[in-house]
Amino acid sequence: MTHIRSAIVGWGHYLPKKVLSNDDLSKMVETSDEWISTRTGIKTRHIVEEELTSDLAYNAAKMALSRANMTAEEVDLIVVASVTPDNTTPSVATKLANRLGVKVGTIAYDILAACSGFVYALTQADNMIRLGQVKTAVVIGAESLSKIVDWTDRNTCVLFGDGAGAVVLKAVEGEGKNTDTGILATKLYADGSHYEDLKTDGGVSSTQNAGHVFMDGKEVFKYAIGSLSQAAETVIEMGGYKNSDIDWLIPHQANIRIISNVGEKLGLPEEKVIVAVDHHGNTSAASIPLAFSENMESGKIKKGDLVVFSAMGAGFTWGASLIRL
Ligand code: UT7
Repeated sequence: MTHIRSAIVGWGHYLPKKVLSNDDLSKMVETSDEWISTRTGIKTRHIVEEELTSDLAYNAAKMALSRANMTAEEVDLIVVASVTPDNTTPSVATKLANRLGVKVGTIAYDILAACSGFVYALTQADNMIRLGQVKTAVVIGAESLSKIVDWTDRNTCVLFGDGAGAVVLKAVEGEGKNTDTGILATKLYADGSHYEDLKTDGGVSSTQNAGHVFMDGKEVFKYAIGSLSQAAETVIEMGGYKNSDIDWLIPHQANIRIISNVGEKLGLPEEKVIVAVDHHGNTSAASIPLAFSENMESGKIKKGDLVVFSAMGAGFTWGASLIRL
C-alpha cells in the first residue's frame, strides 16, 4: 500500500545585514567577549534595522521555493512560526501569501510555540499533507527578537538574534517503511507549569505592549538539555532507528553548552551535531530552519541523510522530527 509522506524539497534562509559582535555588546552593557563566548558559544548575531519579520520570512520563503523549483501558485499552505509578528493580527503568513502571490484560498496562519515553533509548524503541515488536505506547504520560522529584548539587561540581550529559515514540503508516495524519503516521525510536548520561567513581561491583554524577554536561565538550561535529548530519542525510536543511525542532529541553537550536552547524552560524535549558535545567537523559531538551510547550501547535509530536528522553548514547549532527506 502506498503511504503519503512529506518530503523536504526546498530550503531557504535569510539574515539581516547588520552584525552585532560581543565587543559591540560590551560597549552597551557590562559584559565581555570572554563571558559570552565561554558561557554561550555566541560570537556574533544579526540584527534587523529597517526590515520587519515578514521581510525576513519572505526572503527565506522565496529561496526555499526556488530551491524546490516551485512557483507560488503551487503552494497550498503557508505556516509561519514566530513570537515577533509585524502586527498582533493578521498573521505574518497572510502577508506572505499576498507578497508571494499564492492563489486565493491558500491556507495561511501563524503559530506561537516560541523556540519550538518551527518543529510545531512542521508537524502540523506534515499532518495536513499526510491526511491529503494539502499537497504542498511552505513552513517558515522568522524572528526579530531584537525588538523584544531589553538592551540594558545583560542577562538576556547578549543571547538573541534575528533571522528566518524556511522549508518547502511536498507530498510524495512512500512504502510506509523507515527507508522512505520524507518526515518519518514527529512528537510534540508542552508543560505549562513553566509559563513564568521564560516569557515577555507584557502582552496584548495584560499590558497592551509586547514587553521584554525575561528568563530564569538556569531553569531553562536544565530543562532544555533533558527535553531536547528526550524528544530526539523518542522520534529516533518511533522511526525504528538507533541514535547511531542518525547522520545529523540539528538541536535548537540557544547555547553551545546545551548543544554539546545533548549530543553527548545521545552518544553522538561532535561532527554529527550541527552548530550555528556561534554566528546566529538564539533566533527562536528561526534557529533550526536557518541552521538546516545553511548546511544544505554548503553541501554538508545531503539528500538521503537521516536528520533529527529537536527544539525547546517558552511555555515550556518542546518536540522533535525525524526526516529522511
Ligand atoms: O530559547 C530557549 C532556550 N533558552 C536557553 O536555552 C537559555 C538557557 N540558559 C542559558 O543559556 C544560561 O543559563 C545563560 C547563558 C542564560 C546564563 O549562563 P549561566 O552559566 O547560567 O550564568 P548565570 O545566570 O549563573 O550567571 C553567572 C554570573 C552572574 O553573576 P553573579 O551573580 O555570579 O555575580 C550574572 O550576573 O554571570 C553574570 N552575567 C553576566 N556577566 C557578564 C549574566 N549575564 C552576563 C553577561 N556578561 N552578559
